[in-house]
Amino acid sequence: MVGNNLEQAQHLLEQGELVAIPTETVYGLAGNALNAAAVARIFEVKNRPEFDPLIVHVASWQHALHYVQNPPPLAEALAKKFWPGPLTLLLPKQDHIPHLVTAGLDTVGVRCPDHALTQALLQRLKFPLAAPSANPFKYVSPTRAAHVNDQLGDRIPYILDGGPCAVGIESTIVGFDGHTAVVYRMGGISVEEIEAVAGTVQTRLHSTSNPKAPGQLLSHYAPRKKVVLGDIPHLLHDFEGRRIGLLCWQHDYNLPRQQVLSPSGSLAEAAQHLFEALRALDKMPIDIILAEPVPDTGLGRAINDRLRRAAAS
Ligand code: TXA
Ligand code: MG
Repeated sequence: MVGNNLEQAQHLLEQGELVAIPTETVYGLAGNALNAAAVARIFEVKNRPEFDPLIVHVASWQHALHYVQNPPPLAEALAKKFWPGPLTLLLPKQDHIPHLVTAGLDTVGVRCPDHALTQALLQRLKFPLAAPSANPFKYVSPTRAAHVNDQLGDRIPYILDGGPCAVGIESTIVGFDGHTAVVYRMGGISVEEIEAVAGTVQTRLHSTSNPKAPGQLLSHYAPRKKVVLGDIPHLLHDFEGRRIGLLCWQHDYNLPRQQVLSPSGSLAEAAQHLFEALRALDKMPIDIILAEPVPDTGLGRAINDRLRRAAAS
Protein backbone atom coordinates (compact mmCIF):
# COMPACT_ATOMS: atom_id res chain seq x y z
CA MET A 1 0.00 0.00 0.00
CA VAL A 2 1.16 3.51 -0.84
CA GLY A 3 0.30 6.45 1.42
CA ASN A 4 1.65 9.12 3.71
CA ASN A 5 0.43 7.90 7.06
CA LEU A 6 3.32 8.29 9.50
CA GLU A 7 1.59 6.43 12.33
CA GLN A 8 1.10 3.42 10.12
CA ALA A 9 4.73 3.46 8.98
CA GLN A 10 5.88 3.81 12.57
CA HIS A 11 3.65 1.01 13.77
CA LEU A 12 4.81 -1.41 11.08
CA LEU A 13 8.49 -0.65 11.72
CA GLU A 14 7.96 -1.19 15.46
CA GLN A 15 6.50 -4.60 14.61
CA GLY A 16 9.67 -5.49 12.72
CA GLU A 17 8.04 -5.03 9.31
CA LEU A 18 9.59 -3.24 6.36
CA VAL A 19 8.45 0.12 5.01
CA ALA A 20 9.74 1.94 1.94
CA ILE A 21 10.74 5.48 2.88
CA PRO A 22 11.39 8.63 0.86
CA THR A 23 14.72 10.38 1.13
CA GLU A 24 16.21 13.27 -0.83
CA THR A 25 18.41 10.81 -2.77
CA VAL A 26 16.33 7.72 -3.60
CA TYR A 27 13.65 5.68 -1.83
CA GLY A 28 14.94 3.28 0.80
CA LEU A 29 13.67 -0.13 1.93
CA ALA A 30 13.70 0.40 5.68
CA GLY A 31 13.64 -1.84 8.72
CA ASN A 32 14.70 -1.61 12.36
CA ALA A 33 18.50 -1.63 12.16
CA LEU A 34 18.78 -3.18 15.63
CA ASN A 35 16.48 -6.08 14.79
CA ALA A 36 18.41 -8.78 12.94
CA ALA A 37 15.24 -10.47 11.70
CA ALA A 38 13.99 -7.26 10.11
CA VAL A 39 17.40 -6.70 8.57
CA ALA A 40 17.45 -10.25 7.18
CA ARG A 41 14.09 -9.59 5.58
CA ILE A 42 15.53 -6.53 3.78
CA PHE A 43 18.11 -8.73 2.08
CA GLU A 44 15.44 -11.25 1.20
CA VAL A 45 12.98 -8.74 -0.30
CA LYS A 46 15.72 -7.05 -2.35
CA ASN A 47 17.28 -10.34 -3.31
CA ARG A 48 20.53 -8.80 -2.15
CA PRO A 49 23.62 -10.84 -1.28
CA GLU A 50 24.49 -10.62 2.39
CA PHE A 51 28.05 -9.49 1.66
CA ASP A 52 26.68 -6.06 0.73
CA PRO A 53 26.23 -3.93 3.87
CA LEU A 54 23.35 -1.54 4.59
CA ILE A 55 23.34 2.14 5.50
CA VAL A 56 21.87 3.06 8.89
CA HIS A 57 19.67 6.16 8.84
CA VAL A 58 19.58 8.42 11.89
CA ALA A 59 17.84 11.64 12.88
CA SER A 60 21.02 13.61 13.68
CA TRP A 61 24.73 13.44 14.45
CA GLN A 62 23.82 13.11 18.16
CA HIS A 63 21.82 10.00 17.30
CA ALA A 64 24.65 8.63 15.16
CA LEU A 65 26.91 8.74 18.21
CA HIS A 66 24.80 5.96 19.76
CA TYR A 67 25.85 3.58 16.99
CA VAL A 68 29.43 4.51 16.10
CA GLN A 69 32.60 4.88 18.14
CA ASN A 70 35.63 7.16 18.03
CA PRO A 71 34.59 9.15 15.00
CA PRO A 72 37.50 11.24 13.74
CA PRO A 73 37.01 15.03 14.02
CA LEU A 74 36.79 15.16 10.25
CA ALA A 75 33.68 12.95 10.33
CA GLU A 76 31.96 15.35 12.66
CA ALA A 77 33.01 18.32 10.54
CA LEU A 78 31.51 16.66 7.45
CA ALA A 79 28.30 15.76 9.29
CA LYS A 80 27.99 19.30 10.61
CA LYS A 81 28.37 20.68 7.12
CA PHE A 82 26.29 18.24 5.07
CA TRP A 83 23.71 16.65 7.39
CA PRO A 84 20.88 16.30 6.92
CA GLY A 85 21.90 15.49 3.39
CA PRO A 86 23.22 13.00 0.83
CA LEU A 87 26.37 11.99 2.68
CA THR A 88 27.03 8.58 4.27
CA LEU A 89 29.92 8.28 6.73
CA LEU A 90 31.68 4.96 7.34
CA LEU A 91 32.67 4.77 11.00
CA PRO A 92 33.65 2.06 13.51
CA LYS A 93 30.42 0.48 14.73
CA GLN A 94 29.23 -0.15 18.24
CA ASP A 95 28.50 -3.74 19.21
CA HIS A 96 24.72 -3.50 19.19
CA ILE A 97 24.60 -2.92 15.44
CA PRO A 98 23.99 -6.45 14.12
CA HIS A 99 26.75 -7.92 11.94
CA LEU A 100 24.20 -8.56 9.23
CA VAL A 101 23.78 -4.80 8.80
CA THR A 102 27.48 -4.31 8.12
CA ALA A 103 28.10 -7.63 6.36
CA GLY A 104 30.57 -8.49 9.08
CA LEU A 105 32.62 -5.30 8.66
CA ASP A 106 33.53 -3.36 11.80
CA THR A 107 32.44 -0.10 10.23
CA VAL A 108 28.87 1.03 9.76
CA GLY A 109 27.58 3.49 7.19
CA VAL A 110 25.48 6.22 8.86
CA ARG A 111 23.48 8.91 7.19
CA CYS A 112 20.94 11.55 8.19
CA PRO A 113 18.46 11.96 5.33
CA ASP A 114 17.11 15.35 4.33
CA HIS A 115 13.43 14.62 3.88
CA ALA A 116 10.75 16.04 6.16
CA LEU A 117 8.58 12.92 6.28
CA THR A 118 11.44 10.55 6.99
CA GLN A 119 12.92 12.94 9.53
CA ALA A 120 9.56 12.99 11.33
CA LEU A 121 9.49 9.19 11.20
CA LEU A 122 13.02 8.88 12.62
CA GLN A 123 12.10 11.29 15.45
CA ARG A 124 9.20 9.03 16.42
CA LEU A 125 11.22 5.82 16.43
CA LYS A 126 13.44 4.55 19.23
CA PHE A 127 15.75 2.80 16.76
CA PRO A 128 17.61 3.76 13.56
CA LEU A 129 16.57 2.50 10.13
CA ALA A 130 18.68 0.22 8.00
CA ALA A 131 17.76 0.99 4.42
CA PRO A 132 19.27 0.13 1.07
CA SER A 133 17.76 1.64 -2.05
CA ALA A 134 14.29 0.12 -2.53
CA ASN A 135 14.98 -1.69 -5.81
CA PRO A 136 15.71 -5.30 -6.64
CA PHE A 137 19.47 -5.90 -6.36
CA LYS A 138 21.43 -4.32 -9.23
CA TYR A 139 18.42 -2.56 -10.78
CA VAL A 140 18.06 1.21 -11.05
CA SER A 141 17.21 2.94 -7.73
CA PRO A 142 13.65 4.28 -7.28
CA THR A 143 13.05 8.02 -7.13
CA ARG A 144 9.26 7.89 -6.78
CA ALA A 145 6.88 5.85 -4.65
CA ALA A 146 5.41 4.40 -7.85
CA HIS A 147 8.82 2.97 -8.82
CA VAL A 148 8.93 1.09 -5.54
CA ASN A 149 5.35 -0.03 -5.90
CA ASP A 150 6.01 -1.38 -9.41
CA GLN A 151 8.77 -3.68 -8.24
CA LEU A 152 8.32 -4.38 -4.54
CA GLY A 153 4.68 -3.39 -3.92
CA ASP A 154 3.52 -6.95 -3.34
CA ARG A 155 6.42 -7.79 -1.03
CA ILE A 156 6.18 -5.00 1.55
CA PRO A 157 3.20 -3.78 3.57
CA TYR A 158 3.67 -0.03 3.16
CA ILE A 159 5.34 2.57 0.97
CA LEU A 160 5.57 6.01 2.53
CA ASP A 161 5.05 8.44 -0.34
CA GLY A 162 7.15 11.58 -0.01
CA GLY A 163 6.97 12.66 -3.64
CA PRO A 164 9.79 12.61 -6.17
CA CYS A 165 13.32 12.60 -4.74
CA ALA A 166 14.96 16.01 -4.99
CA VAL A 167 18.54 14.82 -5.52
CA GLY A 168 17.83 11.66 -7.50
CA ILE A 169 21.11 9.80 -7.08
CA GLU A 170 22.38 8.03 -3.98
CA SER A 171 24.43 9.54 -1.19
CA THR A 172 28.16 10.08 -1.42
CA ILE A 173 29.95 7.51 0.76
CA VAL A 174 32.98 8.72 2.70
CA GLY A 175 35.25 6.69 4.98
CA PHE A 176 38.46 7.58 6.74
CA ASP A 177 42.01 6.35 6.44
CA GLY A 178 43.75 7.99 9.36
CA HIS A 179 43.18 11.68 8.81
CA THR A 180 42.33 11.35 5.15
CA ALA A 181 38.78 11.17 3.84
CA VAL A 182 38.18 8.45 1.27
CA VAL A 183 35.30 8.60 -1.19
CA TYR A 184 33.91 5.10 -1.84
CA ARG A 185 30.90 6.13 -3.87
CA MET A 186 30.29 9.38 -5.67
CA GLY A 187 26.82 10.73 -5.06
CA GLY A 188 24.67 13.69 -4.16
CA ILE A 189 27.49 15.69 -2.53
CA SER A 190 30.27 16.30 -5.05
CA VAL A 191 33.89 15.38 -4.40
CA GLU A 192 34.70 19.09 -4.74
CA GLU A 193 32.28 19.91 -1.91
CA ILE A 194 33.81 17.21 0.31
CA GLU A 195 37.30 18.52 -0.45
CA ALA A 196 36.28 22.04 0.55
CA VAL A 197 35.81 20.66 4.09
CA ALA A 198 38.21 17.71 4.22
CA GLY A 199 41.08 18.82 2.01
CA THR A 200 42.30 16.48 -0.72
CA VAL A 201 40.45 13.17 -0.59
CA GLN A 202 41.26 9.76 -1.97
CA THR A 203 38.78 7.99 -4.18
CA ARG A 204 38.41 4.22 -4.05
CA LEU A 205 35.56 3.51 -6.36
CA HIS A 206 35.19 -0.19 -6.53
CA SER A 207 34.66 -1.82 -9.85
CA THR A 208 34.90 -5.53 -9.23
CA SER A 209 32.67 -8.15 -7.71
CA ASN A 210 34.97 -8.31 -4.71
CA PRO A 211 32.84 -8.36 -1.56
CA LYS A 212 35.44 -6.20 0.16
CA ALA A 213 34.36 -3.61 -2.33
CA PRO A 214 30.93 -3.35 -0.84
CA GLY A 215 28.15 -2.69 -3.24
CA GLN A 216 30.23 -1.03 -5.85
CA LEU A 217 29.88 -3.84 -8.32
CA LEU A 218 30.85 -2.66 -11.74
CA SER A 219 27.53 -3.81 -13.11
CA HIS A 220 24.93 -1.93 -11.12
CA TYR A 221 22.18 0.64 -11.48
CA ALA A 222 21.28 -1.23 -14.62
CA PRO A 223 18.06 -1.28 -16.61
CA ARG A 224 17.16 -4.56 -18.29
CA LYS A 225 17.92 -3.19 -21.71
CA LYS A 226 21.46 -3.02 -22.98
CA VAL A 227 23.04 0.40 -22.45
CA VAL A 228 25.87 1.65 -24.66
CA LEU A 229 27.71 4.76 -23.55
CA GLY A 230 29.50 7.04 -25.98
CA ASP A 231 29.14 9.79 -28.51
CA ILE A 232 25.52 9.65 -29.65
CA PRO A 233 26.01 10.68 -33.33
CA HIS A 234 28.66 7.94 -33.67
CA LEU A 235 26.55 5.37 -31.86
CA LEU A 236 23.52 6.19 -34.01
CA HIS A 237 25.66 5.34 -37.01
CA ASP A 238 27.02 2.12 -35.44
CA PHE A 239 23.58 0.88 -34.39
CA GLU A 240 21.64 1.94 -37.46
CA GLY A 241 18.65 -0.26 -38.10
CA ARG A 242 18.20 -1.23 -34.45
CA ARG A 243 15.29 -0.17 -32.25
CA ILE A 244 17.03 2.56 -30.36
CA GLY A 245 16.25 4.79 -27.40
CA LEU A 246 18.44 7.73 -26.43
CA LEU A 247 19.51 9.03 -23.06
CA CYS A 248 20.76 12.52 -23.81
CA TRP A 249 22.42 15.08 -21.65
CA GLN A 250 21.23 18.41 -23.12
CA HIS A 251 20.79 18.03 -26.81
CA ASP A 252 17.53 16.92 -28.38
CA TYR A 253 18.26 14.49 -31.23
CA ASN A 254 14.64 14.53 -32.34
CA LEU A 255 14.18 10.80 -32.11
CA PRO A 256 10.78 9.45 -31.10
CA ARG A 257 12.21 7.51 -28.16
CA GLN A 258 14.52 9.61 -26.09
CA GLN A 259 14.97 11.19 -22.69
CA VAL A 260 16.82 14.48 -22.33
CA LEU A 261 18.29 14.84 -18.84
CA SER A 262 18.57 18.61 -18.70
CA PRO A 263 17.83 20.84 -21.70
CA SER A 264 19.22 23.79 -19.73
CA GLY A 265 22.46 21.98 -18.88
CA SER A 266 21.97 21.68 -15.11
CA LEU A 267 23.78 18.72 -13.55
CA ALA A 268 21.44 18.83 -10.53
CA GLU A 269 18.44 18.51 -12.82
CA ALA A 270 20.15 15.72 -14.75
CA ALA A 271 20.80 13.80 -11.51
CA GLN A 272 17.18 14.28 -10.48
CA HIS A 273 15.93 12.76 -13.75
CA LEU A 274 18.56 10.10 -14.38
CA PHE A 275 16.96 7.00 -12.85
CA GLU A 276 13.48 7.95 -13.92
CA ALA A 277 14.74 8.37 -17.49
CA LEU A 278 16.40 4.94 -17.41
CA ARG A 279 13.19 3.37 -16.12
CA ALA A 280 11.14 5.11 -18.81
CA LEU A 281 13.50 3.90 -21.55
CA ASP A 282 13.41 0.39 -20.12
CA LYS A 283 9.65 0.33 -20.73
CA MET A 284 9.82 1.54 -24.33
CA PRO A 285 9.71 -0.85 -27.30
CA ILE A 286 13.43 -0.59 -28.00
CA ASP A 287 16.35 -3.02 -27.95
CA ILE A 288 19.13 -0.76 -26.92
CA ILE A 289 19.71 2.47 -25.00
CA LEU A 290 22.38 4.79 -26.37
CA ALA A 291 23.61 7.18 -23.71
CA GLU A 292 26.08 10.03 -23.64
CA PRO A 293 28.16 11.10 -20.66
CA VAL A 294 27.53 14.45 -18.98
CA PRO A 295 30.34 16.92 -18.15
CA ASP A 296 32.68 15.14 -15.74
CA THR A 297 32.68 17.67 -12.93
CA GLY A 298 30.72 18.11 -9.67
CA LEU A 299 27.58 15.96 -9.68
CA GLY A 300 28.43 15.00 -13.25
CA ARG A 301 31.08 12.59 -11.97
CA ALA A 302 28.45 10.72 -9.96
CA ILE A 303 26.09 10.66 -12.95
CA ASN A 304 28.79 9.33 -15.26
CA ASP A 305 29.68 6.69 -12.69
CA ARG A 306 26.06 5.47 -12.76
CA LEU A 307 26.03 5.51 -16.57
CA ARG A 308 29.23 3.47 -16.76
CA ARG A 309 27.86 0.89 -14.36
CA ALA A 310 24.57 0.72 -16.26
CA ALA A 311 26.54 0.12 -19.44
CA ALA A 312 28.73 -2.56 -17.85
CA SER A 313 26.09 -5.24 -17.50
O1 TXA B 1 21.31 7.61 -0.79
C1 TXA B 1 21.49 6.52 -0.27
O2 TXA B 1 22.58 6.20 0.24
C2 TXA B 1 20.34 5.53 -0.30
C3 TXA B 1 19.22 6.05 0.57
C4 TXA B 1 18.08 5.07 0.71
O3 TXA B 1 19.72 6.41 1.82
N1 TXA B 1 20.77 4.23 0.13
C5 TXA B 1 21.55 3.44 -0.65
O4 TXA B 1 21.77 2.20 -0.09
O5 TXA B 1 21.99 3.78 -1.74
P1 TXA B 1 22.39 0.98 -0.92
O6 TXA B 1 22.35 -0.15 0.04
O7 TXA B 1 21.67 0.82 -2.17
O8 TXA B 1 23.87 1.40 -1.15
C6 TXA B 1 24.69 1.51 0.00
C7 TXA B 1 26.10 1.31 -0.35
C8 TXA B 1 26.38 -0.09 -0.78
O9 TXA B 1 27.21 -0.02 -1.90
C9 TXA B 1 27.14 -0.66 0.40
O10 TXA B 1 28.04 -1.63 0.00
C10 TXA B 1 27.82 0.56 0.96
O11 TXA B 1 26.87 1.55 0.82
N2 TXA B 1 28.10 0.40 2.38
C11 TXA B 1 27.23 0.34 3.40
N3 TXA B 1 27.85 0.12 4.57
C12 TXA B 1 29.16 0.04 4.28
C13 TXA B 1 30.33 -0.20 5.06
N4 TXA B 1 30.28 -0.40 6.37
N5 TXA B 1 31.52 -0.22 4.41
C14 TXA B 1 31.59 -0.01 3.09
N6 TXA B 1 30.52 0.21 2.29
C15 TXA B 1 29.33 0.23 2.89
MG1 MG C 1 21.37 0.47 -4.08
